[in-house]
Amino acid sequence: MAAAIFAGIALFFSFQGSSVPLSSSEDRLVDSLLTLMTVEEKIGQMTLFTTDWEATGPTIREGYREDIRQGRCGALFNSHTAAFTRELQRLAVEESRLKIPLLFGYDVIHGYKTIFPIPLAEAASWDLEAIERSARVAATEAAAAGLHWTFAPMVDLTRDPRWGRVMEGAGEDTWWACRVAEARVRGFQGKGLGHTDAVAACVKHYAAYGAPTAGREYGTVDMSERFFREYYLPPYAAAVRAGAATVMTAFNDYDGVPATGNRYLLTDVLRRELGFTGFVVTDYTAINELVPHGVARNEQEAGELALHAGVDMDMQGAVFQQYLKASLEAGRVSMAQIDTAVRRILKLKYRLGLFEDPYKFCDPEREKRLILSAEHRAAARDMARKSIVLLKNEGQVLPLSRTARLAVIGPLADNKDELIGSWSAAGSGSDCVSLLEGLRATSRGVLGHAKGCELEGNDRRGFAEAIALAKKADVVVVAVGEAAYMSGEAASRTQLSLPGEQEALVEALAATGRPLVVVLMNGRPLAIPNVVERAAAVVEAWWLGTEAGNALADVLFGDYNPSGKLPMTFPRSVGQVPIFYNEKNTGRPFDPNSKWTSKYLDAPNSPLFPFGFGLSYTSFEYSLPTTSALTFRAGDTLRVSAQVRNTGDRAGTEVVQLYVRDQVGSVTRPVRELKGIQRIHLQPGESRTVTFTLTETDLRFYRRDMSFGSEPGAFDLWICSHSAHGQPVRVELQ
Ligand code: GLC
Repeated sequence: MAAAIFAGIALFFSFQGSSVPLSSSEDRLVDSLLTLMTVEEKIGQMTLFTTDWEATGPTIREGYREDIRQGRCGALFNSHTAAFTRELQRLAVEESRLKIPLLFGYDVIHGYKTIFPIPLAEAASWDLEAIERSARVAATEAAAAGLHWTFAPMVDLTRDPRWGRVMEGAGEDTWWACRVAEARVRGFQGKGLGHTDAVAACVKHYAAYGAPTAGREYGTVDMSERFFREYYLPPYAAAVRAGAATVMTAFNDYDGVPATGNRYLLTDVLRRELGFTGFVVTDYTAINELVPHGVARNEQEAGELALHAGVDMDMQGAVFQQYLKASLEAGRVSMAQIDTAVRRILKLKYRLGLFEDPYKFCDPEREKRLILSAEHRAAARDMARKSIVLLKNEGQVLPLSRTARLAVIGPLADNKDELIGSWSAAGSGSDCVSLLEGLRATSRGVLGHAKGCELEGNDRRGFAEAIALAKKADVVVVAVGEAAYMSGEAASRTQLSLPGEQEALVEALAATGRPLVVVLMNGRPLAIPNVVERAAAVVEAWWLGTEAGNALADVLFGDYNPSGKLPMTFPRSVGQVPIFYNEKNTGRPFDPNSKWTSKYLDAPNSPLFPFGFGLSYTSFEYSLPTTSALTFRAGDTLRVSAQVRNTGDRAGTEVVQLYVRDQVGSVTRPVRELKGIQRIHLQPGESRTVTFTLTETDLRFYRRDMSFGSEPGAFDLWICSHSAHGQPVRVELQ
């Protein structure tokens, strides 16, 4: 009946002549609704509550049912499946007074039920089409499960692997984080909101949540505006430009003001500078947290601060629900502010088509047909293969022969539950293919499996069995790493080593003299120099999701030649952190012949593995770059080229990288900046000229006076295999 009402309203307005643009009938429906709504109903649209997914299935706190009936809650999260969302939607559109449909959100970060590699792993693929397709599949399954809105992409730049949520983003480089943000928004929103395979994106966590002091979760973020605008703001801006429908505020403060109460961020920058027109939702109880942040004396004040800053929807805090009417009556907020927030929220519901058909996403047949389909699993396997990074391969121990006798060892070798990583939505380990299963499906040579030790704890009693198995094998494949809960939210670590006795296990296995293939499964860069030293080969497998075991088998047996490259620097020790490729030169750059230069007494400056690094089963040779001119000016297009040759005996994909260095600026400039990548596939012996184009606009930055622009002068350009590789060519911007 509700649908009929709103269909009638929408139809009526749309019949105001076919020339009436959607936005006008949308505006008229929303404005007509606003005139009918009570203050409580308006504030209800600004209120988002979670439902609970217990072992017994979905539940909802009893009070919420009444909240929905009374119009005191306009959106729910963690509510999914066609059946459960239909039940909840019915409450809203058949039992509430105005029958405004609910909005259903969920953290579909790297898959809904078919789980893809964690976002940091996907970033290691450098394959934007695959990344977009991953988000497309996630959206298709989420929308088939009754969802309208995902709290993704997370686009927080991350340079500190102590922080657990590095697993959720695209790593340390701003240029790449922007490209990935755009691809994920395109993937989630697909052909546009309202299609039943698209969900509204929510770019998060605005802003600079990825830079907490000391890498400690929810920690203070303090940085210069230049640093913020140069490195941390661009990915949010890219997501907004790509059309992200919503933005989520971060828990942290920025320049002393918590993001959720920060008018500079939420209104001056996000709306006036970036032109964002969707709605802003807070992170979980982030309004309430303005009180412990120390910027509000009580929750009512916190709610006023958040509304004035530009927040439209309160996630789980019930602050707007409890206090906003009193604030309005006290004249501390205005009805116009409330109407602005409600209008933004209702517009999204309209664009999703919920007023015409509130149940359009609740189709159990579509849900059954699409979720965990063979096509989606194949896409997950492809993404997983491309996300794997080969870090070491001494003596070409990889790829493995299918007849080699393999000992498969380690706490993660036959584990399924960890493979889906953190933020794995409705994913289930039981749907996963373990490494052991993947190897056994491909090779007759698997002798057996021994755990060796647990992920945590100091029990070495399993070593003997593992060593005995290793001694019978030609090659030992040992799967070690973190537990999935050790990365993600509220998962900062002060150490970046392997937990428990795993490093001792690797050492004990190395002592058998059998070549070790170490398969790392982890949610962050690790500082594991001893493990790397003892291994013949090291494969970074992150958390690869539902098809992990098959993808790993594809790579380990050479059916897929690894092409991944690191999106974050791997440190030698946590003492080097934060360590990243695009550092500044300082006034005393490292000089091995001088004590008085930038260095440590007890470690080199160089990382364990640099940003952009990744090996292949073949090898690639790069010529020196050449340019179409030695000087160029604004308006010119400079072409930069290099010959890349496959010098090995098997075909392979290489992620060719373009870096620049501004030799002299009005402020200090990084020693390298990534400005482009190209994934090329070369047959053995094949060579190709790879050409990038550069313009003056690519060289702009925040200058001494904070104006954004380029400066004439000398630039070095590299076309190379990673951030510590290659020789530059010099050009002059005039
Ligand atoms: C969490 C996370 C945020 C997530 C939200 C809803 O605290 O910070 O990323 O979207 O709550 O689950």
